[in-house]
Parts: sequence; structure tokens; C-alpha cells
Amino acid sequence: MNFQLSEEQLAVQKAARDFAQNELLPGVIERDEHQKFPAEQIKKLGELGFLGMMVDPKYGGSGMDAISYVLAMEEISKVDASASVVMSVNNSLVCWGLETYGTEEQKQKYLVPLASGQLIGAFLLSEPEAGSDATSQRTTAEDKGDHYILNGIKNWITNGNSASTYLVIAQTDVAKKHKGINAFIVDKNTPGVTVGAKENKLGIRGSDTHSISFQDVKVPKENRIGEDGFGFNFAMKTLGGGRIGIASQALGIASGAYELALKYSKERKAFGTEIMNHQAVAFKLADMATQIETARLLCLKAAWLKDQGQDYTLAGSMAKLYASEIAQSVTNEAVQIHGGYGYVKEFHVERLMRDAKITQIYEGTSEVQKIVISRTVLK
Ligand code: CAA
Repeated sequence: MNFQLSEEQLAVQKAARDFAQNELLPGVIERDEHQKFPAEQIKKLGELGFLGMMVDPKYGGSGMDAISYVLAMEEISKVDASASVVMSVNNSLVCWGLETYGTEEQKQKYLVPLASGQLIGAFLLSEPEAGSDATSQRTTAEDKGDHYILNGIKNWITNGNSASTYLVIAQTDVAKKHKGINAFIVDKNTPGVTVGAKENKLGIRGSDTHSISFQDVKVPKENRIGEDGFGFNFAMKTLGGGRIGIASQALGIASGAYELALKYSKERKAFGTEIMNHQAVAFKLADMATQIETARLLCLKAAWLKDQGQDYTLAGSMAKLYASEIAQSVTNEAVQIHGGYGYVKEFHVERLMRDAKITQIYEGTSEVQKIVISRTVLK
């Protein structure tokens, strides 16, 4: 067992840290306040190769390992979780799915611009009545021979408006239940696709979350991903890797808040000394540091398994469950350590506390992760 990061991994970590400090930190409070999508910053992230990190360079990606992805996600999320969710969805849910299951034509046409960051993508699984219960797809994809006709509504779609390419999960044969579900690549500008209003969210307010409706949308058969009926399996496999991304996001939110609290505790004085000298604060910091290190190890273990070509479903769910749970407590304690200053926007920790909440909900709630984990350990 070797806990040492390689020179390349350390360089990626540093590049992400520098980017977060120099490009994301200025303006992050304003973007949160006004729900402004970080368009310029995402463009630059793409130019640096952070939107297709694990994709083969022959398809426009950076050819990095999943460990580097975890490191980069942590650094970006420390500062701006609205930017890191764009990065996570594009890398894990969109590029990975296309590279792993797409045809050569699909890769050339869609993966290359997505992995190189010229375009961004979105993953359309959730519906008004199909969140955790993902097999209950109401969006239909009627087989018309050489094309499909899509009808339905998708909800809570990250990158809903900013994405150009959608991966859409829809039901073709209801009698076959989840085995009748398909996944499709759909251009956002296809006639019949309508982007709904932007959601006004508690956290990750810079990211654009929309509902998307499909009315008689014609999708050519060559845009189906995999064999007929592969769509649910595609969604589950894709989400398996996505959960490593969101676990790393939760880790970054927690470690960002912890670093701010640590710094503050060395500067702020109360009762005649820096507050770090009070055991009430020091013990909080000890717990936060221990939880963060545990979450980091879980994220890196899941990424390592992925890099080794081993099954990472269980490890990814454990990482996401744990990291998102501790992101709640760590950000909460970071606000507490800051006292009244923690409750105002300028000190960043209140935003991190709001951002942390979504990590327990999207890409499978904590309860869904417990379903995945318990089914595996009880086998
Ligand atoms: N990998 C591969 N296949 C899987 C799988 C996995 N991890 N998990 C389940 N499957 C397969 C099963 O093997 C089964 O197939 P077979 O019948 O062929 O064996 C099929 O899928 C159905 O599985 P289940 O019977 O276990 O299905 P279920 O109805 O009990 O649900 C669930 C399982 C784990 C709860 C699943 O529905 C789930 O993960 N729900 C959460 C969905 C989710 O994460 N949504 C997030 C939305 S995307 C998002 O948030 C993105 C964003 O914008 C940030």
C-alpha cells in the first residue's frame, strides 16, 4: 500500500488549487447571491483539461486517472461547489458514459467537444415522479423504426440551460419495466426540447438547474447508447462513477470550510487568547480534521479501485454517504467557530454550509447509498 501521490497527481492538485484561488474565489459570493452561472470560469476549466479529465486524449480528454479527478474536485469544491458540480457532471456522467458505451461515431461527434470543454453536457434521469425510484421513468421514447419520438419532463437537471448535449433516459417498452429503458444523446436545440425556469436553490446557486420538457422530439436511432433496453443499466453504471465525483465535492466543501475555520481560530481572540487555545474550539477542529481525512481516504480508495479496473460501486457509495454526511457537520462547526461572522456571506462558511446539503441529495440520496451498501454487504 502506497499513500504517496505521484508527481503528476500533485501537479494536477496544485493546478486545481491555483485555479480555484485565482479564478473562482473572486466573484464567488456575487455569483451565489445572483445565481450567476460561472460561464467564463467553466470555459477556462475546459481549456485546462478539467472537463474531460479521464477521457483518452484521442477523444479530446486529458487522459488522467480517477485519483487526479478526486484531487481536482476537492480543490475546486473548496472554493466553488457551483463550478465543481458542472465539472463532476461533465466528467463522470456525460464523458465517462459516452467513452465507455458510445459508438465510435458518437464519440467523434459528441465526446470530443465535451471532453475538450468546447461544450458541456447534462444527464437527464430524474423526473417529477422518478427521483430515488429511478426505474419509474414516465418519459417515453417511442420506437419509430429509424428514429425515436421522445415525450416527457425531466427535473432538477444540472447544466440544464448551459449544456448543449443531453444524455436522456426514457422508457421505450413499459412492459419490460427497467429492461425497456433506453439512453439517448439529444442535442439541446432539437425542435420540441424546452428548457424550463431556473430553480431558485438553497445552495450551489451558481449552477443552473432546470426542468427540461420533450414534446414529440425526434431522435435518430444512431443516438441511442448501447443495445435496446440498456438505458437503466447505463444510468446505474454511470452514476456509480458520478458518486465518486460528488463524494469528492462533499470532501472539498468540508475541507474548504475546515481550512477557513482553522485560519480564523488562529486569528480571532476571545478571553485573552486566540480561540484555537480554547479546548472547545481545538476539539472541534480535531474532529473536523479526522472526519475529513477519513472521507478523503474513502474517495481515494474508490478512485483507486476504478483506476485498477475493479468494481467501485460499493466504495463509491460509501465515499459519497460518508463525505456528504460529514460535509454537513464540518460546515456547521465551521460556522459555529466563526460565531456571528460565520453567519454572514463575506466569510464564505455560510455558503459552504448551504452548498453541503445537496451532496446528501443528488446522484443518489444518503438513503439510496444505504440501499446500495446494504444490498452489497448483505449478499
Ligand atoms: N450498476 C449496474 N446495474 C445496476 C446497479 C449498478 N450500480 N444498480 C442496480 N442495477 C441494475 C440491477 O442489477 C437490476 O438489473 P437486472 O434486473 O438486470 O438485474 C436493475 O438495475 C434494477 O435494479 P434494482 O432492482 O436494484 O432497482 P431498484 O428499483 O430497487 O432501485 C436504486 C435501485 C439503487 C434505488 C436505483 O434506483 C438508484 O440508484 N436510484 C437513485 C437514482 C439517482 O442516483 N438519481 C440521481 C439523479 S442524477 C443527478 O443527480 C445528476 C445531477 O444532475 C447532479
